[in-house]
Parts: sequence; C-alpha cells; structure tokens
Amino acid sequence: MKKKKIAIMGLGTVGGGAYDILTRNREYIMKTQGVDIEVKYILDRDVTPLEKRGIPTELFCSDVDKLAADKEIEVVIETMGGVQPAKTFIEKMLASGKSVVTANKELLAKSWHELEPIARKNKCGLFFEASCVGGVPIIRALGESFQGDRVESVYGIINGTTNYILSKMSKDGCDYATALKEAQRLGYAEANPSSDVDGYDAAYKLSILASLAFHTCVPYGCIYREGITKVSARDIENASRLGYEIKLLAIGKRKGDGLEVRVHPAFVEKDHALASVSGAFNAVYLTGDHVGNLMFYGAGAGAAPTGSAIVSDVIKALKGDIKYCDFDNSGKLDGKVKLVSDFTSGYYIDVAVEDKPGVLSRISTVFGDNDVSIKAATQAPGENGRTAIVFLTYAAGEKAIMRSLDEIGKLSSVIQISSVIRVL
Ligand code: NAP
Ligand code: HSE
Repeated sequence: MKKKKIAIMGLGTVGGGAYDILTRNREYIMKTQGVDIEVKYILDRDVTPLEKRGIPTELFCSDVDKLAADKEIEVVIETMGGVQPAKTFIEKMLASGKSVVTANKELLAKSWHELEPIARKNKCGLFFEASCVGGVPIIRALGESFQGDRVESVYGIINGTTNYILSKMSKDGCDYATALKEAQRLGYAEANPSSDVDGYDAAYKLSILASLAFHTCVPYGCIYREGITKVSARDIENASRLGYEIKLLAIGKRKGDGLEVRVHPAFVEKDHALASVSGAFNAVYLTGDHVGNLMFYGAGAGAAPTGSAIVSDVIKALKGDIKYCDFDNSGKLDGKVKLVSDFTSGYYIDVAVEDKPGVLSRISTVFGDNDVSIKAATQAPGENGRTAIVFLTYAAGEKAIMRSLDEIGKLSSVIQISSVIRVL
C-alpha cells in the first residue's frame, strides 16, 4: 500500500489529538480505509511541542514555503487557530494544490469566501468537520443529508467551554473563575477564552451551521451575540428553583421570509433534550419540514473528539472525495434575506427593589402597559429594607421588554435590574 504523506500546522490540543489517532490507529485505518497515512512534517513555533509529546524532532519544520513546495504532501492539517498567519498558510497550501483540513471556525466564519475559491481553482479540498461541535459529524450531515428537506431551525449548544462552566456552576456549585480555569486545563478553551465566554466562538460556528442549513450566507457579523459573563450563581439557583437549566444557545431559525440568528444564554426547561447536555458535551437540535426533530449529540471539544473529526476529513481528502459547499459564500448577506432583530421570547428578569408595599404592582403595571404578560412572579424574603422580585414572562417582543425595563429601572422603589435572561 502506497504511503500518503501529510503535514500538521499547529501541534496543540487538536493537532496533537489528530497526531495521536493517526499513530495509534494507523494499522486500523490501513485495514479499513486502504490508506497508509504518514505525517511527514509538523510546523509549530519551535520544537518544544514535539519534544513534550515524544514525537521525533526531525518532523519539525518552521518553513511554511518548504512545506508548500513539497509535492509529496497531499493534505495539510491546520490546527494553529486564529486568522493570521493561518489564513496565509492555508492559502499557500491550497495554491500549491494541497487539500486543507481545518478546525479553525474563526477563520472559516471570517474568510471562507476568500479561501474556498482558491480551493476550487486548484481542484483541492477545504474540509472543516472539526470546526463545529467537536467530534459530532454535523457538517457532513448538513452538507450531505436533508437534501429534500427545508431546515426550519437549528438550536445548538455549540461551545464546550461555556457549557462546561455553566454545568460546573449548576451541578457542583463551582465558581465561574475556577470552572473556566478547569476548562482551559482540559484543553476546551480557545487560546483567548474571551472567544468562548463572550459568545464569539459560538457565533463563528452558528455562521457556518446556519449558512449550510439555510443554503445562504449568514455572515458572522449579522449574528446577535451575548456571552455568559453576566450569568451569576444567583441566576443559576433561580433557574433551578423554577425548573430550568441555563445554557449558552446558538439559534438559527426561519421566520416568515426572514432569519433569526442569535447567540445568548437562555433558560431551558429541565425536560427539554438540550437541558440534559452537560459538561463539554454539545448538541444541535434541528428541525426539518419533513424529517421533523433530530438531535446530534456528542463531545464538543477536546483533543480526541476533535482529532477524530480531523482524521476523518484527512481520509476523505486523501480518497479524493472533494465537495464544495452549495451555498453562496460571498461573505455578504443575500439582499433578499431579512434578518429579524425583534425576537420573540420569554424572559427571566430579576429586579432588586425596596421592600415596600405596592412595588410589585407598579412593576406589573409597566409590563402590562407594554403588552408583556407575566407568567410567574416570586419575591424573596426581605432583608435590610431590600428584596428581589423574580419575573418570568410569557413570550414577548424584545423591543417591548426593553421598553418595559427602561421604565421599570426609573421607578422610585427599584434599586436595580440585576439580571435579564431569555427563556427558550
Ligand atoms: P492550541 O492548543 O493553542 O494549539 C495551537 C498550536 O499551534 C500551538 O502549539 C501553538 O503554539 C501553535 N501555533 C499558533 N500560532 C502559530 C504560528 N503562528 N506559528 C506556528 N505555530 C503556531 O489550540 P487548539 O485548542 O488545538 O485549537 C486549534 C484550533 O482548533 C483553533 O482554531 C480552535 O478554535 C480549533 N478547535 C479547538 C478545539 C478544542 O477543543 N481545543 C475544538 C475544535 C476546534 P503556541 O502554543 O506557542 O501558541
Ligand atoms: N473552545 C471551543 C469550545 C473548542 O469550547 O467549544 C471547540 O470548538
């Protein structure tokens, strides 16, 4: 069997995970897939990551041009992350006719429309299964299944780090900072974890998933984004008491002839399938007009699951199974697609107030005047003349809620609006 030579750019969590699988399962892959894959080069900043993993240092290469010029290399794995120099490096590889397998959702969400034409021109592949939802084959499912269906909505927990943090806070009473450190130690977090906790990573992934699901280009910049940094232990406690889990959701759905695309924390009822997704696990809950509801579930981050998605793409690329995406990836929103900004949702609202008669009624009046209907209101026992009232509303328009909150914030007995979280 002829050896197929590949290279890895970036030997960190994911690159290392892919290398391990290629080494450990080499014989198995030969037997089942008929390809003998050999890693010829590993590009990184220096030789340290190779030494740490006990990988022969003669594989180290610091010269991207040498790698691009080597005709033996058929496929290159990009697992460095970030936009530059990853983009330039990938462009060089594609221009020299090598297929690229990447886990870099930030780069894909921002520059897909620039990279893919280079791949097409040079008749090579740009594979990205590992960019979304770790080891779960959602890209392949969206690209190759549901051809007869019109996908109506995609609801996802698509960031492992934030789901890990929220689960640790909810289940173990862990504080936010400790849970984040643990997620970093386990290799789930991005190099700059702001990308996770501020919702950017989920927005990059939603841009890719929604573009595939709705057969149009959903530019990352069009996605409403809110992270989890304002979610407090108190919110998590309140959610649990009221029968919910808090999750960072990525939502893409059709509304009339428009699209809603948003990333934000949300209360999810405990008996909803998404509520049971905990730790670094991810899930995508998809509804098609004929297939109905489907849930894709599995490890959303980490070396082995993401490495598995990378290796699967490498094999696809080596077998010449090259497909290009069927949506208009111009990087711009199609002029015919209307984005919905006045979302409709239930809301959880936690208001700190002076413990005086009539406060609840004044707040309720404001909600009523703005057509916001209250589903439940609970008041905590007062202390030092202060108390808190927690409201759950029925579905209401975002604008009506914001108008109400503006007016409620100005009421004399209201100390502050402590928290506002949407309810799925
Ligand atoms: P990582 O552990 O930080 O690994 C990146 C590796 O690339 C490091 O060895 C890094 O070196 C090296 N590198 C970065 N910039 C470089 C440059 N300019 N030149 C040479 N080497 C460079 O990151 P990761 O977690 O594996 O993530 C890699 C990519 O996979 C990212 O795009 C990420 O979003 C994506 N991803 C990650 C996961 C996950 O679970 N971690 C899952 C899915 C997708 P230094 O450490 O010295 O910077
Ligand atoms: N930082 C990302 C996450 C890695 O936590 O989901 C997987 O894409």
